[in-house]
Amino acid sequence: MVQFVDLKAQHDSLRRELFDAITNVIDNSAFIMGPAIKELEKNFADFCGCKHAIGCSSGTSALNLALWAIEVGPEDEVITIPHTFIATTEAICVRGAKPVFVDIDPATYTMDMSKLEAAITPKTKAIIPVHLYGHPTDMDPLLAIAKKHGLKVIEDCAQAHGAEYKGRRVGTMGDIGCFSFFPGKNIGAMGDAGAMTTNDDKLAVKLNKLRNHGRLGKYEHEMIGYNERIDNLQAAILNVKLPHLNDWNALRRKHAAEYAEALDGAGVGLPSVADGCLPVYHLFVIRHPDRDGLQKFLKEKGIATGVHYPLPLHMQPAHSDLGYKEGDFPETEKASKEIISLPMYPEMTAKMVSEVAEAIKEFSS
Ligand SMILES: Cc1ncc(COP(=O)(O)O)c(C=O)c1O
Repeated sequence: MVQFVDLKAQHDSLRRELFDAITNVIDNSAFIMGPAIKELEKNFADFCGCKHAIGCSSGTSALNLALWAIEVGPEDEVITIPHTFIATTEAICVRGAKPVFVDIDPATYTMDMSKLEAAITPKTKAIIPVHLYGHPTDMDPLLAIAKKHGLKVIEDCAQAHGAEYKGRRVGTMGDIGCFSFFPGKNIGAMGDAGAMTTNDDKLAVKLNKLRNHGRLGKYEHEMIGYNERIDNLQAAILNVKLPHLNDWNALRRKHAAEYAEALDGAGVGLPSVADGCLPVYHLFVIRHPDRDGLQKFLKEKGIATGVHYPLPLHMQPAHSDLGYKEGDFPETEKASKEIISLPMYPEMTAKMVSEVAEAIKEFSS
C-alpha cells in the first residue's frame, strides 16, 4: 500500500516542536496578528530571496489580495492557463475581471510563451503564470512581453515553494508571488494559510493593509480592506516546518529521479525539466494513454493516485460565460485525459517508489 501523501509521517517527525509551538500560542493567547506571523514573514521572505512576505488566510486569498493591490477590476482581462486549480481564475472573477486563457507547453504544463502575445488585448491588465506541479514557468520571455505591453505579473506559486528559474526562486520575479500553505503543499499549515511575496515596498504596505481591514494601526483604516489574515497558530506551525523545506524539496527531487529511472522504457510519459529550472515536484505527473485503466489498476494494488486536473477550466460550468469551447486549448485538453499524479512526498522510501513503478510496468506490459 502506498498513500498519495502522508502528513502523519511528517508531523510525527516534528511532534515535539509542533506541540511546543502550539502550546506557546495557547499560553500567550496570541491568536490574531501575533508574533509568530512577523517571524514567518521574515523567514519566508529570506527563503524565497525577496524583500517582503505578507501572510494571509490561503493561497486563494493571496491571489485575490494581489490582484486587488494592483487594482484589477471590472473591464480588465487577466491572462492565465486553463490547466490549473480554479482558485487562479476565481480570484480574477472575484475582482470583477475576465480570465483569458493561453494553452500550456505540454513538456512543462506551464504557459506556452509562443502563444502569450496573441492573447493580449487593450483590456489586458496582468498575467498570472502558474508554476504548476512545482515546475517554474519560462519567466524571461513572459517578463519581456509583460514589460513591452505594460502588464503586471502575479506569480501563482501555490505548488512551487522554493522552485528556481535561472537561479531565482519563484515569487521573486513578478510584481507579487502568491503561495498556499494548504496542508498537502510542499510546506503546509494545519488548516488554511497563504502568503504573498514582493520586492516592491509600496505593494508590501498595501498588501499588509488589504489583508487586515485596510489598517496598519488598530482603529485607523486608511482604505477598505478585508479580513484575510493568517492565524498566528498557523504561522507558529509553519515556523517549525520552514527550516526543513529545502531538505524536503531535495527529497522530492530524489524520489522524482528514482521514478524516472525505474519508469524509463515503461511506455509512460515522464515529466521533463526545462533548461535552467530546478523544480520542486509538488506533484509527480506522468502520462498514459489509458490513464483511467492505470488509475483503477493501481487502486486495486493499494496505490493512491490523483488527476490534476481532469476537466480544464475553460470547460468548467463555472466558466461557461467566458465563451470558450472544447478544442480551444488542445494541449490542455489532451493532458487532462492522459495525466496521472503518482504518490510523492519527502518521507517516501525508495522501496515505495519502486513498488509504484513495478505496478505501472505490470499494467503497461
Ligand atoms: C495552482 C494553485 N493556485 C491556488 C491554489 C489555492 O490555494 P489555497 O487552497 O490555499 O486557497 C491552489 C491550491 O490548491 C493551487 O494548487
